[in-house]
Amino acid sequence: MSPRSDHHSRHGQTAQPVDDRLAFWARQAGELDWDTEWSEVLDWSDAPFARWFTGGKLNVAYNCVDRHVAAGHGDQVAFHWEGEPGDTRTITYAELRREVCRTANALLSLGLRAGDRVAIQLPMIPEAVFAMLACARLGLPHSVVFGGFSPAALQSRIEDAGARLLITSDGQYRRGRVEPMKANTDEATRDTPGVEHVLVVRRTGTDVPWTEGRDLWWHELVDVQSDRHEPEAFDAEHPLFILYTSGTTGRPKGILHTSGGYLTQAACTHRTVFGLDPDTDVYWCTADIGWITGHSYIVYGPLANRTTSVLYEGTPNTPHEGRHFEIIEKYGVSVYYTAPTLIRTFMKWGEDIPARHDLSSIRVLGSVGEPINPEAWRWYREHIGAGRAPVVDTWWQTETGAVMIAPSPDSPSFKPGSAQTPVPGISAKVVDDQGVEVAKGESGYLVLDQPWPSMLRGVWGDDDRYRQTYWARFAAQRYYFAGDGARYDDDGDIWLLGRVDDVMNVSGHRISTSEVESALVSHPAVAEAAVVGASDATTGQAIVAFVILREGAGGEVSVDGLREHVAREIGPIAKPRRILVVPELPKTRSGKIMRRLLRDVAENRQVGDVSTLADASVMDRIHAGLADAS
Ligand code: WT7
Repeated sequence: MSPRSDHHSRHGQTAQPVDDRLAFWARQAGELDWDTEWSEVLDWSDAPFARWFTGGKLNVAYNCVDRHVAAGHGDQVAFHWEGEPGDTRTITYAELRREVCRTANALLSLGLRAGDRVAIQLPMIPEAVFAMLACARLGLPHSVVFGGFSPAALQSRIEDAGARLLITSDGQYRRGRVEPMKANTDEATRDTPGVEHVLVVRRTGTDVPWTEGRDLWWHELVDVQSDRHEPEAFDAEHPLFILYTSGTTGRPKGILHTSGGYLTQAACTHRTVFGLDPDTDVYWCTADIGWITGHSYIVYGPLANRTTSVLYEGTPNTPHEGRHFEIIEKYGVSVYYTAPTLIRTFMKWGEDIPARHDLSSIRVLGSVGEPINPEAWRWYREHIGAGRAPVVDTWWQTETGAVMIAPSPDSPSFKPGSAQTPVPGISAKVVDDQGVEVAKGESGYLVLDQPWPSMLRGVWGDDDRYRQTYWARFAAQRYYFAGDGARYDDDGDIWLLGRVDDVMNVSGHRISTSEVESALVSHPAVAEAAVVGASDATTGQAIVAFVILREGAGGEVSVDGLREHVAREIGPIAKPRRILVVPELPKTRSGKIMRRLLRDVAENRQVGDVSTLADASVMDRIHAGLADAS
């Protein structure tokens, strides 16, 4: 029997006994280096607030860095960093330890102490990893904000987390151009008196505005510090980071993750899902550290496993569309983990581009972010994986912290488009409206019926929102409601069907319809707005907005102006693909917008059942208006 064979027999309908599950996680936690042994694996007495490995103490950064150096692996490469303009840096575990220690000493010199929050907005440069690990080392929960978010979005995240320090860079490379970063973060910190210092990495050499006394250069503060620092052990439940994600309301939620359970599951899944061998593999996850995938599968999981990784700063088509394949060939990447939207983009660019490169080092391919359509799955395996590499489709969320559902890489029977089975130690079910598990061949809602080590521990500063969002839907059963639809096939394997709430998935990024709607109505010319996600062949979904303009505003506002306004309010990723100006919106008698009908319009379909509309002729007027405009 292969060691992973138990993986295949388990799906929603044959969950592993709870005691075995806890014993499994205790064994996984035992792979880490603990300063103090835990007394209880799981304390679920205050559900839905979980505590894993209670009483245990460890230092996350020590586990990711120092222990590998102590075990004689200091010369092993931790990161092959590749800058967008072509500059490179090789960072061994010994060097990573020194950099993390210097950074930690710098943060200490600023008076930061365990529990203080640090906001980070940086490009994909080594300092981003140093900063995260230095925070982890000192018990400072970090809040990494994706570089593409607007100053307004950064400001609200800084305020919500109450950050004392912001770490950023002068500028960033974007598709061959230099774009400002510090100028934007200055806008974000204009009214955040809680931010005492801004630590600035010099990346592009761009001129920056400077606030004497508050702003500090990284190379002046960090580089002069001692490269020794004794790590302190923190409680297994000490907050490790906050990461903001879109929910169904306009305000992003600060998802809270803690230390011991999170690191245990991030490391375990990274090892098992990719069958990782730290001595031979070269691993590359193409995500940005501003998302959970970057946290769990660029930083914490891979480093805990002593992985050699590629870290790439730039976009996939800079300076040409073969850049990723060039990098795979250059470093001999054996595990490549990316998102369906990029695979579909590669498909569009053409198979002759990967064909020009030697990709024979590839052993396993991973996919994450949205359901992978079977055509993309097959193309990925054929043209990147030489027709033989397994493609593991990994389902999980910011909230789950680590992979939950994925086929095993040595699965005898891959199913293109299906994430298949919960990973070892995890239990998931597909249930109906009442929380009753559906039969094989049926669809329903995906729930997680048992707590897991890397589960979110709450929504920062808002326990009630945590209960309401995730635990109220199936309160009687105490199931975690993931917000995704799913189906069991005839073998009991799970197929993900996309979100069942008002959350869109654009290129694997989560954006809520109401977030974009509030941005639109904050424009003086917009009276009302409704936003839907329309299927899109490349990005999964595209944002389509229907807006009603204020009386008299018609002449002065352009659709492009509204799109730019959304980009300024949230960030370019939230810019609607299309904005349709309409005279009215379809609403039910109780005033709820019927997005289903708007989606029909956005996807150029015959409009469905309008019988529950307050005024059934609204759709005709919308159509007539759009026909006039075109
Ligand atoms: C949502 C979570 C997990 C890191 C990236 C996104 C969708 C994610 C898959 C997949 C089908 C997927 C779900 C989920 N999703 N991976 N393999 N198959 N859907 O993290 O921003 O928290 O989004 O992404 O809808 O709920 P996130």
